[in-house]
Amino acid sequence: MKRRFNESEINQSVGRPLKSGQQAKDVHKSSQWPWPKMVFLSFFILFATLPLILHFSTDLTVLSRPLEFGLNHTVNFYLEPEKGVRVGVWHTVPEQRWKEAQGKNLDWYERSLGDGSPVFIYLHGNGGNRQESMPHRIGVAKVLSALGYHALVIDYRGFGDSTGEPTEPGLTTDALHLYNWVKQRSVDSLVCIWGHSLGTGVTTNTAVKLLEEGKQFDGIILEGGFSNVRFITNGLIEHPFSWFYWKFPYIQFFLFNPMKNNKLVFPTDENLEKIRTPIMILHAEDDHLVPFSVAQENYRIARNAQNSDKRVKLVSFDGKLGYLHNGLYRDPALPDIIRDFVLSLKP
Ligand SMILES: *[C@@H]1O[C@H](CO)[C@@H](O)[C@H](O)[C@H]1NC(C)=O
Repeated sequence: MKRRFNESEINQSVGRPLKSGQQAKDVHKSSQWPWPKMVFLSFFILFATLPLILHFSTDLTVLSRPLEFGLNHTVNFYLEPEKGVRVGVWHTVPEQRWKEAQGKNLDWYERSLGDGSPVFIYLHGNGGNRQESMPHRIGVAKVLSALGYHALVIDYRGFGDSTGEPTEPGLTTDALHLYNWVKQRSVDSLVCIWGHSLGTGVTTNTAVKLLEEGKQFDGIILEGGFSNVRFITNGLIEHPFSWFYWKFPYIQFFLFNPMKNNKLVFPTDENLEKIRTPIMILHAEDDHLVPFSVAQENYRIARNAQNSDKRVKLVSFDGKLGYLHNGLYRDPALPDIIRDFVLSLKP
């Protein structure tokens, strides 16, 4: 239920108590309620009750049933990146194996990772979970699967039905854990990572962590990525988080941003200086959360760092297409763009 209401509904619910001082006077005439009490009650209902109702009406059990979202060759499972932290993952096998996948258990899915097909780990953005903000996340999994790749979509700690407290190092640990888990099963297959929005910050953090261990992804896709979060406080760019705060100042505080209390850095710019993995940046020119200029800047940094136009690419999507921040999975040219990128990678 969480994200199913629109802006006007939020304005209504926020607007009502603000006017209630006015209305309360009228109410006071007909009833015995003093108006400060009414105001207090209104605020109590708004700030305490509503978020709780919304929060607990979210049905997280759907996350264990990917079939309900048309993903009939997908298994839901859990990993434990750290003691006491359980994170949920969806694994979709290459589409050509869908029939074979029917009724198969976790073991079969795990073994399927060694079938030689490229594997993608997908890191989603801020808020929501691996099913919510659909159809974008499911859309990406379907595109990858149709191309004959495996797609693993994780809910970091504190997101979806995953337990634990979401912190920047925690999210990175989760992604790193999933990567190592995949590598133990994928034999010689390519293992790539695709981050979207906040997930791009986690992606580059994870890539740098891997480098420190002498490992690397075979390819990195950054979709709708932002730059160092430090810049937001300087007001240099409009950032997804600042947009959220502006758009949903109250509701979001309670619900939408599991990371609200945690200090975020996500130093994408510094990470891109260190990474030596082929990178493809995807960005819609009309992205309303992260301006296109951020993608250009990230591209410039990565291209200079790797000193190559071949290893670092920027693919833009015309603003007229209306993809904004979440819609480019719909582009009919996307499968070819992804395939070309994967074919350019060395196994
Ligand atoms: C299962 O998924 C595949 C791939 O998306 C699709 O082609 C097929 O029609 C689906 N089958 C059923 C029975 O839903």
